Amino acid sequence: MTDKDYLQIFDAAEDNEKFPLVYGWMKTEPLPFFKQLRAESPVLVTPEVTLVTLFEDVRDLLQMPKIFTVELYKPKMGDYLMTHDEDALHDREKSIMYSMLNRDDVPLVRKLITRNAKTILDRAGGKIEIVENYCRGVPASLVQDYFGLDGVDPKKLIDWSFWNQYNAFHNHHFNLESRDKFDHIVAENERVKKELTGYIAKLVFRKSIAVKLRKLIHFLATPLRMLLGLIYLLFGKKDTRDRLTDTTVTRMLATSYPKEVDFPIARLGLNAGGLLIGAIETTSQAVAQSIEMILKDPNLLAQAKAAAEKEDTTEFDNIVWETLRYVPISPFVFRVASEAYVIAKGRPHETLVKAGTTVLVCTQSAMFDDYAYSNPDEFDPNRTFYHNFNFGFGYHECMGKHIGMVLIPEMVRQVILRKNIKADDAKIDYDDKPFPTFYNLSWDNA
Ligand code: HEM
Repeated sequence: MTDKDYLQIFDAAEDNEKFPLVYGWMKTEPLPFFKQLRAESPVLVTPEVTLVTLFEDVRDLLQMPKIFTVELYKPKMGDYLMTHDEDALHDREKSIMYSMLNRDDVPLVRKLITRNAKTILDRAGGKIEIVENYCRGVPASLVQDYFGLDGVDPKKLIDWSFWNQYNAFHNHHFNLESRDKFDHIVAENERVKKELTGYIAKLVFRKSIAVKLRKLIHFLATPLRMLLGLIYLLFGKKDTRDRLTDTTVTRMLATSYPKEVDFPIARLGLNAGGLLIGAIETTSQAVAQSIEMILKDPNLLAQAKAAAEKEDTTEFDNIVWETLRYVPISPFVFRVASEAYVIAKGRPHETLVKAGTTVLVCTQSAMFDDYAYSNPDEFDPNRTFYHNFNFGFGYHECMGKHIGMVLIPEMVRQVILRKNIKADDAKIDYDDKPFPTFYNLSWDNA
């Protein structure tokens, strides 16, 4: 039991006050609120949405994409793969993109992040507003250097990711914004969509020419490549690269997709844009919130510093993932029921969800369920990542997960490694937005 009786307050409230109360608690005191729900009302029905809080139900729902759909993404993201529930387009494009984001790149991606992160911090000279300059700046540099969306001011990339993320994930009926604010976010999203589309068209044209030239050179060198191929085959090919030698967009353009695969150039462009949108604001939020949690607690800071010094980053990375259980980028993902469905059939909390209901699938609550982890309320970095839902779960699990899993901890590590790192602000300033906006840090620049 928790000290505050959220359910009693909820039950006593007028209908029109119920969800605003719930929404506020999820923002400001999610852990005790979710704890009471898991114990007493694991599926909470409010007039606006239904909350699902137990680990097993969360995992169950996220594996039924045809029933618990991403319908609400459709008006926000056009025809991007993420708006498709269990169909050919989604599976085809996610698979293609997984191949392009070759998982063997991960160590090299981490090296690149380390370099770019260090450069930004070194240049800052001991004092930085971390959100814009670093939390967004580092993933923006990755979007240019690894994904290949180059030849553009990184500030534009940041702007495009920000408004797309804002409109797609924080501008729905359950976000309780005024009509004016809702319209403003939609208008900004329309603006950046136009700019991004124009940029991608030019990028694809420019990179296609470069790829064609490279192919010609490759063709002329065919006999030599065949000989090398034979040697690789006989002696086993090892990935000996020590740096990334191409970009994701170049790979996409260098690949020939037979007509039957159905991946025309327009779909290629849309997916290139998706890389950028997915990468920047999500990473920025996770990194800023993890840093804040570490800097606020001297014991945790000491533990993190000691781990950050080690060559093997596993211990440090686990600390970061544990912080993000407490401060994830969102306490839930949202779905719409396409048909009536009984959640937790045969269990005491069995609940009928009607078709059309918006369901907040409370992934943060699931990470504090004792089904997921023993002693879930304790800070313990030694937990399996299989029950960590920071990258979602199931059918729509994050496509950039393996990149995020090095990008986020390495960015946090580089900050924690700075001598006498400290926060100059008491907390992150969100500037009335869902994402961190300002957070000033300083360190000894000796
Ligand atoms: C690094 C670059 C990233 C890319 C390219 C990317 C891309 C994507 C894509 C395409 C999806 C949809 C997958 C699908 O519908 O099947 C997705 C889902 C998701 N991503 Fe990422 N992402 C990135 C980073 C991140 C980060 C840093 C976070 C948070 C820490 C994150 C959190 C999520 C979550 C929670 C979902 C699931 C949404 C849902 O279930 O509705 N992503 N991502």
